[in-house]
Amino acid sequence: MARTIRIASLTLLLLLQGCKASKPGAKESRILTSAKHHVFVGNKTEKNPLAKNSQTIADGKEAFSHYCVACHGNDGQNTGVPFADTMSPPVPSLASSDVQTYTDGQMKWVIDNGIWPSGMPGSKGKLSDEEIWSIVVYLRHLPPAGSQGEPEMYSH
Ligand code: HEC
Repeated sequence: MARTIRIASLTLLLLLQGCKASKPGAKESRILTSAKHHVFVGNKTEKNPLAKNSQTIADGKEAFSHYCVACHGNDGQNTGVPFADTMSPPVPSLASSDVQTYTDGQMKWVIDNGIWPSGMPGSKGKLSDEEIWSIVVYLRHLPPAGSQGEPEMYSH
């Protein structure tokens, strides 16, 4: 049953995304966000096994710097990412409430699986579980926007 609902809402997501050449309107975005949070993104109750201390934040920042920064910027808020606004859907600020209202388990799920068919890739197998959980802790403690400069790959 739960699976049927999940597949149905995935179909809805695809229809909503596929029917439009332009950006989704505010209402459609809200429906998409709500569908994602409640049905599509799994793993809601899984707990982060790592201690939430400054060492884990530093580890998460390090893991994030390998390739997440190419699209999300060093600060997770798109600073210095030239194409962030022109991707469809655009790269969101990871400090935004849409993202921060995910549970830790859902954030892990998003990073593991990515969001198909958008540009957000899945990292399962590329990063270890521990690296991904540390990224989740980093995402809860993002530095102020712009404070970390541009990703190195765009600075020359
Ligand atoms: C190739 C570009 C790209 C890379 C690399 C990338 N992302 Fe994303 N990310 C996106 C896009 C585009 C979205 C928006 C997806 C959407 O709303 O459908 C996104 C969305 C997200 C979200 C929010 C999901 C939501 O439902 O709102 C999180 C969290 C996230 N990314 C974390 C990461 C992490 C952590 C990494 C590295 C392990 C990473 N991303 C690598 C492009 C990227």
